[in-house]
Amino acid sequence: MIFGLNQSKIINVIDSKRLERDAGGKPLRTFPHPALGAGLAAVFALAAGRIDLSVIHAARWLAPSADRGRALGSLPTECLTPASDPRVAYQIEVGRAAFRTPLTLGGQASRAGLACESCHRDGRGNPDFFFPGLSGAPGTADVTTALFSTHRDDGIDNPKPIPDLSGPKARLKISQAPGDPALAAFIHGIVTQEFDGAEPPPAVMAGLAAYVRALSPGACPTAVREPLRAATYIGNARRAVQTAIAALDHKDPATAAFMADAARGQLGLVYERYDQPKADAARAALHAADLQLVAANAGVRGGDPGARGKLAAWLAALPAWTAVVERQEPQSLFNVARLN
Ligand code: HEC
Repeated sequence: MIFGLNQSKIINVIDSKRLERDAGGKPLRTFPHPALGAGLAAVFALAAGRIDLSVIHAARWLAPSADRGRALGSLPTECLTPASDPRVAYQIEVGRAAFRTPLTLGGQASRAGLACESCHRDGRGNPDFFFPGLSGAPGTADVTTALFSTHRDDGIDNPKPIPDLSGPKARLKISQAPGDPALAAFIHGIVTQEFDGAEPPPAVMAGLAAYVRALSPGACPTAVREPLRAATYIGNARRAVQTAIAALDHKDPATAAFMADAARGQLGLVYERYDQPKADAARAALHAADLQLVAANAGVRGGDPGARGKLAAWLAALPAWTAVVERQEPQSLFNVARLN
């Protein structure tokens, strides 16, 4: 399955951190080779008269019985209570980005592309989740398997229904009372110890708890679902980079770097859906935006005083390249008609 192989490289193209890890830390030759692979794969898929949805990460853990257009073309709306205290608002934003990146899970789950959000979509549940070896019935998962952590593997196959984290707190098992350490302890248990590099910074762990606490039925919008668009992921990336800047202002470069990497992951989720042959402009725009983030993040990690300015410049450039990406969106796998 040479194309299968190629494709698994393509979908990871922007998530270079994972790629670097797989390549033993060696610099990677990502472009133009994988882009070429994407083009070829698309051509072959078209020639075969079918669309290969496995280029979309989320399609890989979709129950066969699921409505693909609905599951991959829309998502539940987010029930996030805004915080008036700027300190809490910052924590929530850190957690929101961390909730959406596989970097938070580490180990095999991370390599598979799983994030908290894969199971708790937009902070809710996911009745269509089905991951062989992890799920029993659709909508269930066993979070004490080796896929998450060899340290915590209880050796028992015990998938549980994925709870809606935005449901009434009284219906959830773990106390979210302010000051109760149970929630942070539970989340720490899910975040594996199997990181090749450093574990997520403390602010990220605190942020995840703050984010979960801020989810509430009272904050749910009237609409239950909303369309999933390139703008959804680009908006997530923008918020993550804004939060990276805030982290730098908090003198926390480790969290800032984590946020910038989380933003890159969101760009990857856009990129993987541009499988159509004529998507060069969109893919090039995303690649350029990604490289700009890589450069900014090298500055963040290296303590470069100009790093903040580079992140701000990235935000300033975002609307222009977003327009390029959105121009080719109707032909991409963001188009629900192509998903069914
Ligand atoms: C593979 C799917 C999956 C992933 C990924 C996942 N969860 Fe969960 N989560 C579950 C399941 C299933 C349960 C229910 C476990 C149980 O009942 O024992 C759960 C339970 C929880 C609970 C407790 C809910 C309660 O009843 O009080 C919280 C909080 C939570 N998850 C947060 C997170 C966070 C934060 C992440 C990312 C670090 C995450 N989850 C990643 C599937 C997942």
